[in-house]
Amino acid sequence: MVRLFFLLSGENETLPASEVKAVLEAEGYSYSNPEGLDQVLRLESDVESVKAVQIRSAYTRVSAQELLIADANYSAITKAAAKNDFSAVLKSGESFVVRINRIKNYADTEINTMTLEIKLGRQILSQTPGVTVNLKNPDKTFIGIITSNKLVLGLKLTDITSKTFSERRPRKKPFFHPSAMPSKMARCMVNLAHAKTESVLLDPFCGTGTSLIEAAFIGCRTVGVDAQRRMILGTKKNLVHFGIEAEGLILGDSRKIPLVKVDAVVTDPPYGRSSSTLKSTTVQLVEDVMVSTHALLGVGQRICIAAPKTLNISPLGAGLGFRHVESHFAYIHQTLTREIAVFEKATQ
Ligand SMILES: C[S@@+](CC[C@H](N)C(=O)[O-])C[C@H]1O[C@@H](n2cnc3c(N)ncnc32)[C@H](O)[C@@H]1O
Repeated sequence: MVRLFFLLSGENETLPASEVKAVLEAEGYSYSNPEGLDQVLRLESDVESVKAVQIRSAYTRVSAQELLIADANYSAITKAAAKNDFSAVLKSGESFVVRINRIKNYADTEINTMTLEIKLGRQILSQTPGVTVNLKNPDKTFIGIITSNKLVLGLKLTDITSKTFSERRPRKKPFFHPSAMPSKMARCMVNLAHAKTESVLLDPFCGTGTSLIEAAFIGCRTVGVDAQRRMILGTKKNLVHFGIEAEGLILGDSRKIPLVKVDAVVTDPPYGRSSSTLKSTTVQLVEDVMVSTHALLGVGQRICIAAPKTLNISPLGAGLGFRHVESHFAYIHQTLTREIAVFEKATQ
């Protein structure tokens, strides 16, 4: 176990940190002492776990092995760096660079990021025999984040670009519908549902297939249900575009799913705005789908559902054999904030 930290996207306040924890849980990595700073999550876990986060996460930008944390002022940082043995991660003959990122405007009166990069660079040089600075192509990068009036400094392990998600945004897909969910949010929901490689993920309101695509990209087998033929055909078109073959695409009613067993459910029911609830209501559909998927999941397995915040779906699970694990809120526009609720099957 080593101390790690993750630089998180600022797109949402709570989803990114929960996503990292969910990825570790889904992949069987234990972790301890999690601490959230603004856009940073610190925790102890297996150093290998960062690879799972790199492959799966939508909202993580960088992972690093933590070397020190100090109050965000030059004297506290110099003292903490003096106590650190950089030779444990930087060997004689290797080159390095120090990069400092600031979240929002934390400590902007105390610290200039470029000055801190130079100061820390000089300190590491003087404390570590046989190493050199290389700004363009270093062997090792030390990344520091100034956040919540602290500096957390570590050895960068992975860089995560969100480029591939923008290539899969709704309007880039051959079949577009305005109800489609952003690909990053769908991936995050897949992670929150603890979907695993080779496991079967069901989306009972699959629409344009966003969650199926994101699940397939992390190796899940996928099944989609939608009550409208044009949506099933559209999902198929989108899957083919990304070279994905679903385990099943079913034209049917999510309240009566013709399946025996799945491992995780991720879904975004219609809100009656851009997509029709087909003579039902969103709350009723959420309740009905929780009943129909309860029978397909094992105890401890999860369903992650999105719905308008105003519907307050988190209490719904309790009477239906689910435990409400957590909810997150995502502002979409003036009249829509989404609640992303995670439930775990509690009873048979
Ligand atoms: C909000 S959209 C899903 C969007 C999807 N998450 C995406 O990113 O493309 C909801 C979908 O539920 C479907 N639907 C509505 N009532 C249904 C029902 N009873 N059973 C199955 N699908 C239904 C609609 O046809 C619509 O495609």
